[in-house]
Amino acid sequence: MKTTFYDMEKLSAFLASKKTLLGRGAIAQAGQEAKKLAAGKVLVVTDAGVVKAGLVAAVEESLRREGLEVGVFDGILPEPPARVIDQCADAFRQGGYDLCLGLGGGSSLDSAKMVAALAANSGSVLDYVGLDMLPKKGAPLVLVPTTAGTGSEATRVTVLTDESDNTKKVVFSDYLLPDLSILDPVLTLSMPPSVTADTGLDALVHAIETYVSVNTTPYAEILSLQAIAMIARHLPQAYAKGGNLLARYNMLFAANISGSAFASGGLGAVHGLAYVLGTEYHMAHGRSNAIMLPHVMAFNLSGNLEKYANIAEAMGEDTLRLSPYEAAAQAVSAVRSLMEAVNVSGRLSDYGVSRDDLPKLVQGGLAQARLFVPNPRDLSEADVEQIYAGAF
Ligand SMILES: [Fe+2]
Repeated sequence: MKTTFYDMEKLSAFLASKKTLLGRGAIAQAGQEAKKLAAGKVLVVTDAGVVKAGLVAAVEESLRREGLEVGVFDGILPEPPARVIDQCADAFRQGGYDLCLGLGGGSSLDSAKMVAALAANSGSVLDYVGLDMLPKKGAPLVLVPTTAGTGSEATRVTVLTDESDNTKKVVFSDYLLPDLSILDPVLTLSMPPSVTADTGLDALVHAIETYVSVNTTPYAEILSLQAIAMIARHLPQAYAKGGNLLARYNMLFAANISGSAFASGGLGAVHGLAYVLGTEYHMAHGRSNAIMLPHVMAFNLSGNLEKYANIAEAMGEDTLRLSPYEAAAQAVSAVRSLMEAVNVSGRLSDYGVSRDDLPKLVQGGLAQARLFVPNPRDLSEADVEQIYAGAF
């Protein structure tokens, strides 16, 4: 790896869970750890799919073994509506709970973060949308991911749906960082291959976007490049053989450090241009990001040839005798190969998106222009149109 010189004049922050337990069987520690956080009664915040997969049992068992009372709220929905988060927060307040444990994918973890926060801050989640709007830290918070993608357990963000105008809203607050994250790869074994692929590619997008972001930090650069290398090696294995625990472990770890990286380093145009695919075509978050990733990367290359070449190397490409541009371009082909290995097409036409929808896509992409700011290359409206057009 090349030596990197960091800019000491640029202030950077590192965000992560206060404590993280990582390893097979880590979930057995949930009870003891919850007790350290002074819990007597724990609300598990999750969704029906997680319950059906039998994943709540292991958590409950560990909590009850330590004499803790446990309740389960399993009504979290994808792209969680504010209404459901508020309902869950009411259940927490009225049930006399003193610790919130989020269990599941990004939606359950994001919701649990706000439920804990609303234990100490009155009103609705919608009252706290924006940056640093929460005045107080909430109840103790433990997050347990069952997918390897969002990295939500390492970020200070909750994304929710405001049903009044059907838009996504975001709460940013240091108080949303958990007191404890438990990363147990056994809990991710039941993910079907397509979910493994989509969530794993979401983690890859987080890592790549953060690594090349103009807002990246020394911590974010180190963590994201390491995550890219791990995902390139282990995502195909986790996809091919869902029971491969070592691959699952590496993916869970990689998603977590990607989360820490983007929590401080920020995202970019891939998330910006993918957003409309989620709202208009109801594609999973990870899938829509994966579709846009190679197209945005190809556009971005000239913005930072050296970093894209480093990505190519991290993904196992041999760039030794290549020109800087050729070396950078290897990163795009490596991503395309990885997507092929996990059966994810990067062509919009394969998802029923019509070329006639191009103006709608461009409009939707431009609406997320705030995410173009940290992108390594500026985007004009014509660029946005060209990127979408090239994705068919
Ligand atoms: Fe994402």
